[in-house]
Amino acid sequence: MPRTIIEPFRIKSVEPIRWTTRAEREQLLQAAHYNLFLLPAEDVLIDLLTDSGTGAMSTHQWAAVMEGDESYAGSKSYDHFRDAVQGIFGYRHVIPTHQGRAAERILFSVMCKKGDVVPNNTHFDTTRANVEFAGAEALDLVIAEGKQPGLAHPFKGNMDVAALEAAIARVGRERIPLVMLTVTNNSGGGQPVSMENVRQVSAVCRRHKIPFYFDACRFAENAYFIKLREKGYAEKTPREIAQEMFSYGDGCTMSAKKDGMANIGGFLCTNDDLLAQQEKDLLILTEGYPTYGGLAGRDLEAIAVGVQEALQEDYLRYRIASTAYLGNHIAEQGVPIVQPPGGHAIYLDARVFLPHLPLEKFPGVALAAELYLEGGIRSVEIGSLMFGAAAKMDLVRLAIPRRVYTQSHIDYVVEIILEVWRNREKIRGLELTYEAPFLRHFTAHLKPAL
Ligand code: F0G
Repeated sequence: MPRTIIEPFRIKSVEPIRWTTRAEREQLLQAAHYNLFLLPAEDVLIDLLTDSGTGAMSTHQWAAVMEGDESYAGSKSYDHFRDAVQGIFGYRHVIPTHQGRAAERILFSVMCKKGDVVPNNTHFDTTRANVEFAGAEALDLVIAEGKQPGLAHPFKGNMDVAALEAAIARVGRERIPLVMLTVTNNSGGGQPVSMENVRQVSAVCRRHKIPFYFDACRFAENAYFIKLREKGYAEKTPREIAQEMFSYGDGCTMSAKKDGMANIGGFLCTNDDLLAQQEKDLLILTEGYPTYGGLAGRDLEAIAVGVQEALQEDYLRYRIASTAYLGNHIAEQGVPIVQPPGGHAIYLDARVFLPHLPLEKFPGVALAAELYLEGGIRSVEIGSLMFGAAAKMDLVRLAIPRRVYTQSHIDYVVEIILEVWRNREKIRGLELTYEAPFLRHFTAHLKPAL
């Protein structure tokens, strides 16, 4: 295999990106109150805010969009969507939703009640919020290695199985309506879960008769990590690996904006007939009829093709190699990152990057602001601004949209990060001038600290 990473596609339609000068970016950043969420997207050169809904669709997906059947009920696009999803996930009921969090809300409203506890390796923020909204407690049980940014481990997303057993013994089976595994573990650095861990968690759940669900957003990337890193899987296709993984569960929630390769959409799956009926009833109330669930027929078609493309080996090889390339090239020069590089993103450790900044001066936000000033790159802080005093780390996530940026864009990002790294001592902290009562990171205003 040649060493140069090339994109396994050629480009048929281009979208210009806009250069700005440093002086312009200084003004723009000030006008955005040093909060990158408040920047107009057209003033961003390389947008690594999220890999969610930001991917490029293929020619096959665009062709499928034209096949969209927009019938209210019984649309044939739903049949395509259901068949494609069932071919991989294998679950009896496939319920479309407008995105992942809608699937979460429906699942937890139907399954959880006040006082319940839902274990997960690490809940994503919307997942946690939806568990809590249903009155239950969201319990994170990732292995100890998963909490140490600099430590390399092949499956840092694994759940601590002994801690799961202990939680069941402590809380009691009747207060645990389901156990979830997030593949890959986004909040833990985009780290994969091993098949062995999936099997162990599944066995514990079976023994206690607790339903076992996946948060499947990045299932294809997780399947490829299993192929690369776990004994016995090198010869299997990512599709076979995904099929095996889901066979150990009872259902899943999915945001098709990630490994569904679509710009919008999601779904909820279950093998439980009674639950599926309750979920569909709730779906009709807020999302739509069960054969479209808040999506257009054309969206269902795009997802039907997208979930299959996400499992193509050429694509996954490039995807994982390109993310690792970014991480390894900056780490080689000493830049502190969450190790090893994850599937969809690289996370900079801002506390180590900017040791001169106390946490009250938001090292992660300051670093993200500097990446924008230096090179027009937008990233996101996951730390003290997002979580307040509860933040255990201050990370800056560089999430890579699927099939959007080329290797030279990635080289550019490496160059800018290294330039910021060389000048890190000059970076000043920020202070808050406005904050909303909850989810403050989206709308906060900041200014350079004195
Ligand atoms: N679960 C995980 C693991 C996620 O990463 C996300 C979204 C969701 C659920 C919710 O899905 O956005 O379709 O409602 N993550 C995005 C991100 C927003 O930037 O990481 P959604």
